[in-house]
Amino acid sequence: LYRIKTPTSLPTFLLIGPSAAGKTALLTALERGSPIPTHTSTSPLSVQALLPEEYVPSSASYRSPGDPAFERARRFVLYDTPGHGKLRHFATTQLVNPTNIQGIIFVVDAAAVAEDVGLNETAEYMHDVLLALQKRYTGNRTSKGPKEIPLLIAANKLDLFTALPPHLVKISLEKAITEVRKSRVKGMKDSGVGVDGADEGLGEEKEWLGDGGEGVFEFGQMEEVGTNVSVRGGNVVGGQGSDVKDWWEWIAEQL
Ligand code: GTP
Ligand code: MG
Repeated sequence: LYRIKTPTSLPTFLLIGPSAAGKTALLTALERGSPIPTHTSTSPLSVQALLPEEYVPSSASYRSPGDPAFERARRFVLYDTPGHGKLRHFATTQLVNPTNIQGIIFVVDAAAVAEDVGLNETAEYMHDVLLALQKRYTGNRTSKGPKEIPLLIAANKLDLFTALPPHLVKISLEKAITEVRKSRVKGMKDSGVGVDGADEGLGEEKEWLGDGGEGVFEFGQMEEVGTNVSVRGGNVVGGQGSDVKDWWEWIAEQL
């Protein structure tokens, strides 16, 4: 007796980022081709989407259009999460054991990160996401080894004249994450965690994002723990229409 092979679960991209960055708007734009109005999310939302014809899934680059494998490789799932500070467990629990997660899209409001308040809020959340990815990698005990999980920083809202260009979004976030990293370790020391015990220093090391140095944090340090970070800009809505091309390119590279 032959059994019909159950379809393997589709590659999933996790949408993460602070509230109002544009995650749900991006989800609707990728799912439907153009965005629809959104409300702040209070629960996760999962939809299926299809890579448009003008992009080539990297796993199928040697196949021709019409080949079933080529068409199959275009299908993926977007998993949107609420950005509100009290609802981030929906996103962070996904990072503990991200079996079918093919990549993470961290959506950033490029105008909000031009101001200290927005920058710090974004950097804190991003620090915690990156630290969770690092812990997943270093804590892996399976023989296969942990899989790579790339992360796209989608610098959104570039239609706004106050928005920072992507290369400045990157530099600003690296600086701000450097500060978050310092203050988190200081917070632990002040509370006595990881100090005075037999495991002195160990707890600290586990909570320290990136390489052990005291210098600045750079996204390139995440390579060592299986996460390639790239920063690409665009806008989901805006007067000139939406521009999500660079993000589609990135998704195609991961499929
Ligand atoms: P939470 O669900 O609260 O986590 O927020 P979210 O990240 O899902 O934000 P959402 O997609 O709901 O977008 C928030 C607001 O930003 C909406 O009013 C969108 O129309 C607006 N927005 C999204 N993308 C852009 C953009 O590229 N440019 C401009 N100007 N506004 C945008
Ligand atoms: Mg939302």
